[in-house]
Amino acid sequence: LARRVLTRAARQGDPQALLIMDADTRAHPYALHDTVRAAGPLLRGRLSWVSTNHAACKEVLRSDDFRTGPPETPLSGLVARLAEWSAGQHVLHPVEPPSLLAVDGEQHARYRRLVSRVFSARAVEALRGDVTHTAGRLLDELAASTTSEVDLVERYATLLPLTVISDILGVPEADRPQVLTFGAGAAPSLDVGLSWSEFSHVDTSLRAFDAWLGTHLQRLRENPGTDLLSQLVVATDDGRRLSEDELRATAGLLLAAGFETTVNLIGSGTELLLRHPDQLARLRAEPERWGNAVEEVLRHESPVQVTARVAVRDTSVQGVAVRKGHLVATMLAGANRDPAVFTDPHVFDVDRANAREHLSFSAGRHFCLGAALARIEGEVGLRALFERFPDLALAPGAQRRPTRVLRGWERLPVRLGTLV
Ligand code: HEM
Repeated sequence: LARRVLTRAARQGDPQALLIMDADTRAHPYALHDTVRAAGPLLRGRLSWVSTNHAACKEVLRSDDFRTGPPETPLSGLVARLAEWSAGQHVLHPVEPPSLLAVDGEQHARYRRLVSRVFSARAVEALRGDVTHTAGRLLDELAASTTSEVDLVERYATLLPLTVISDILGVPEADRPQVLTFGAGAAPSLDVGLSWSEFSHVDTSLRAFDAWLGTHLQRLRENPGTDLLSQLVVATDDGRRLSEDELRATAGLLLAAGFETTVNLIGSGTELLLRHPDQLARLRAEPERWGNAVEEVLRHESPVQVTARVAVRDTSVQGVAVRKGHLVATMLAGANRDPAVFTDPHVFDVDRANAREHLSFSAGRHFCLGAALARIEGEVGLRALFERFPDLALAPGAQRRPTRVLRGWERLPVRLGTLV
């Protein structure tokens, strides 16, 4: 039903079109973002408010007048009771409680306290050497390719974040290809308006991922390592901190968020730099600018395009009244192209002084826990790639991911050229 309402809305110029998007709009969504922004800081669509205005999105994300998690519907009570009844048996969804992304208040603070130490900027900086080593090993494998043309997403952009997060979470090497398949299958679970066949594929993938996770956690329980998940299992088993559902939800989110988003940063970064050789030349001349270039890639092609919040009381955003219970879709990608904040917002400029003001990692209490790690993976990963293959070039056949919330390349064929 949501799909039908949204598709009709999209045809009638409803701002909700941004949430469903046909393939053409998905390839070039930014004109629609501009149209929505020009019409006001917050627009009322058929199912929710929509904003592509930087100040409004930031205000909503930071405000205590809004909560995260699914909106209330006439069926919410029933769904909550079913979830309670099936606790410990049902399949956990990345954007439904008890996922970190979908809870607030003390519950959220408790989950975050348990895992944030491992992902703090300082802790992650200590991993820079490991990330560099992993990138080097993957590039060695690429260099040993028997073909001169490869799919960069398959051979590098996916494998770097997957390897790094799997090492942090103690995922055995043999299980990683399987985890990748589950992740790819489950990624559209973030999108609204899935068709029945899309929904069943997502559901099967979520179930398979959940079953694997259960086995993996049991393995760690019997034979704990020094990884973060082993620590969480111990924290669960002493009965004080996490229930079994909370543990599976947190572990699953960390793993999936760890590679499903950063793959898009590395893929989009590669494509953007190959299409803007002048910008690449700037980075070759001044490699200390790579950190800022990663911020500009994040701003220009937000890997997570949108998130949403629900008003917990009657409130207002940039002067627009929003009633309790109303849903606001904050288009992070649209906020990142707001000319009130970014001069010439559609220009890709690795020297942009305020690129870091993007909202690609969200804002407020749910600000991305893995931001420091993603930044290092982007910087090390892209720099190492372009240093190893100075003649890297795009080849025909690039294909976008079909997902709406996650934006990136499904396939990015490149010619490797000579290597250094
Ligand atoms: C939350 C984006 C990489 C773990 C978020 C949110 C965004 C985001 C937009 C907040 C959603 C909201 O406010 O509703 C990204 C992007 C990444 C990235 C663009 C890469 C370029 C990572 C990595 C990890 C990670 C590598 C690995 C640990 C998380 C977690 C949350 C989160 C656990 C939930 C935080 C909370 O709700 O308190 N991310 N992420 N992310 N991210 Fe990331």
